[in-house]
Amino acid sequence: MISFKNITLLLSDKIILDNVSLNIERNITSVIVGPSGAGKSSILKIILALWKPDYGEVLFDGININKLTEEELTRIRKNIGIVFQNNALFDSLTVAENILYFLPDKKKLSDIELKYKVEELLSFVNLEGTENFFPEELSGGMKKRVAIARALAIDPKVILFDEPTTGLDPINAESILHLISKLKKSGTTSILVTHILNDAITIGDKLIVINNGRIVESGTVDEILQSSNNFVQKFFYQINRGNYLLDSYTNQYGLVNVK
Ligand SMILES: Nc1ncnc2c1ncn2[C@@H]1O[C@H](COP(=O)(O)OP(=O)(O)OP(=O)(O)O)[C@@H](O)[C@H]1O
Ligand SMILES: [Mg+2]
Repeated sequence: MISFKNITLLLSDKIILDNVSLNIERNITSVIVGPSGAGKSSILKIILALWKPDYGEVLFDGININKLTEEELTRIRKNIGIVFQNNALFDSLTVAENILYFLPDKKKLSDIELKYKVEELLSFVNLEGTENFFPEELSGGMKKRVAIARALAIDPKVILFDEPTTGLDPINAESILHLISKLKKSGTTSILVTHILNDAITIGDKLIVINNGRIVESGTVDEILQSSNNFVQKFFYQINRGNYLLDSYTNQYGLVNVK
């Protein structure tokens, strides 16, 4: 669905992404995992065509997005929902207004249709009845769920999550992972960026490990945990050490089981 072919990104003469090639397949959850500063968010910015790589190609359903006009790009972006690291909700707008903000063709829908749309999305993220709240009245976990509802409002083919559980307590973090899992069951393709190993192994069908702007390994959770790559072994040390045991009943690693 999305392919990077030998992407190199330079910012202020520094190599941010170094010859990155990756494939994001449809209907699965891909997790880009790596330490702070590795280049994870930069990958999302390139997918959204907010940044243009210096070398290489980005293909979205086979189309090279860096060759498109701004108008054609807008059409591609309508397929992509994004949940930003800081949620990026509009403080002066209500929850309902935030959710509808990026909806194209709003004017074609009646007030009642818009109301139902908001209700349906709030119900999906378990936030019924919060339509008229302002972001400052919500907890961190609630804000994250509004950001997810807003991303879903455009019926995206793919949804990008940048560090969706960072800063949340374990219970809220788990509920966000549950939502991502629920989305997968409804056929959405998700790309999640995180440095939290627990998220990566509980939610990821495919993990792409990145360090210093380079992909060091990619594969299923089992493949990554068995990798002989030095960096991967060091990064996943806690898990391999046995802090996260494979539960033979659920066949899951980690502390939460959301799949
Ligand atoms: N606008 C910019 N100009 C110059 N360098 C930048 C810019 N944005 C990011 N960088 C650099 O690019 C590198 C990768 O940044 P990026 O935000 O992609 O990392 P990340 O893996 O998402 O990190 P984190 O986990 O901290 O969010 C970092 O070294 C960062 O300092
Ligand atoms: Mg980041």
